[in-house]
Amino acid sequence: MTYDFDAPIDRHGTDCLKFDRPEKRGRTADLLSLWVADMDFPTAPEIVEAIVERTKHGIFGYTEPGPDYFKALDAWCFERYGFHTPEQQVTVTPGVVFALATAIRAFTKPGDAVLVQQPVYYPFSAVAESSGRRLANVPLPFDGKRYFIDFDAFERTIVDTDAKLYLLCNPHNPVGRAWTADELAEVATICKRHGVIIVSDEIHMDFARPGFSHTSLATLAERAGLEERYAICTSASKTFNLAGLQVANIIIPDESLRSAFRRENLTVGYSQPNTLGMAATQAAYEHGGPWLDQLKDYLEGNWQLLEEMLADRTPELQLIEAESTYLAWIDCRALGFDAVQLERFIEDEAGLWLDCGHMFGAGGEGFIRINIATQRSYLERAINQLATAVEKRRTNI
Ligand SMILES: Cc1ncc(COP(=O)(O)O)c(C=O)c1O
Repeated sequence: MTYDFDAPIDRHGTDCLKFDRPEKRGRTADLLSLWVADMDFPTAPEIVEAIVERTKHGIFGYTEPGPDYFKALDAWCFERYGFHTPEQQVTVTPGVVFALATAIRAFTKPGDAVLVQQPVYYPFSAVAESSGRRLANVPLPFDGKRYFIDFDAFERTIVDTDAKLYLLCNPHNPVGRAWTADELAEVATICKRHGVIIVSDEIHMDFARPGFSHTSLATLAERAGLEERYAICTSASKTFNLAGLQVANIIIPDESLRSAFRRENLTVGYSQPNTLGMAATQAAYEHGGPWLDQLKDYLEGNWQLLEEMLADRTPELQLIEAESTYLAWIDCRALGFDAVQLERFIEDEAGLWLDCGHMFGAGGEGFIRINIATQRSYLERAINQLATAVEKRRTNI
């Protein structure tokens, strides 16, 4: 079956974050919106069918994941990434951020330090701080082409802050790195040396681009001698555009950590997951492979368009090579704006609603993030608006 990712679709009026009520978020209605990380494509028809089928029963009482749910998740993770997700190790949560926040409360105490690597998906820092933990940031250095991990600084920060937990973004939003086995083994070894628990957010794992691959921390835990002091968070929500159905999985191999996590779930009153979300997730992992393959081909076309248009029209903007995710990270520092000026430029002159880099913490200033998971014609309009605004500035200088 062939899926049509170019088919126009209007999301207005669906109460979606990306397009509806922009004024609630201080934006105007005429901006092209490429900020929040969901996609403008309907999910796979096989998934819609599974949801529709489930709704026909008409009863949506308390539900729990069944054997087929766990089987589908395990097959997906094992066949694609080489790690198993044994049923007893999996806890379903209403989202990955929920799982990160719960893990922080379950595995650390108030006042403990939580390690993050900024610029990073902003809820990482927010959930650590709002849970009363100290934020220990070890910035990701950028060599002008690529982000990397400074292992000495990483270890020093752990020692200096007495960090207890490391929130790993794998692959990394927004800088697009798909961490290699060697990089992951090195951070895992350091964490092991200092008793730091790793919570690896692998929600974007299915988006590795040609020439790159996703390495799950789970496949390296043994090599690094982590002894199960880690957790893996994943979800079908990014891959299949199901975020509104609120189902994610956290895999915790160690029994005592798992019990602590589940106790914390009880403390906040969470137990059974979303019925339709589970039906959708199971169908995604059972039947979604071919749709995903075609989606990734389509996204490659979008990456190419973005790369070519920027190279052609705005050489002062540098697209950082994304190894994974559908989020483009663009260095706009050559424009010479501070964070506020860049935001104003993007909205008032380019007519775009994006996430500007300062939101992602230290090192993000002067960058913008563009979600490319949209119809190519829409992306083209957006890049054109950006390029035109840059060109106008150039001629005015
Ligand atoms: C790295 C990362 N983790 C988690 C999330 C959100 O996950 P959820 O909606 O399941 O909380 C996102 C969404 O953009 C993300 O980029």
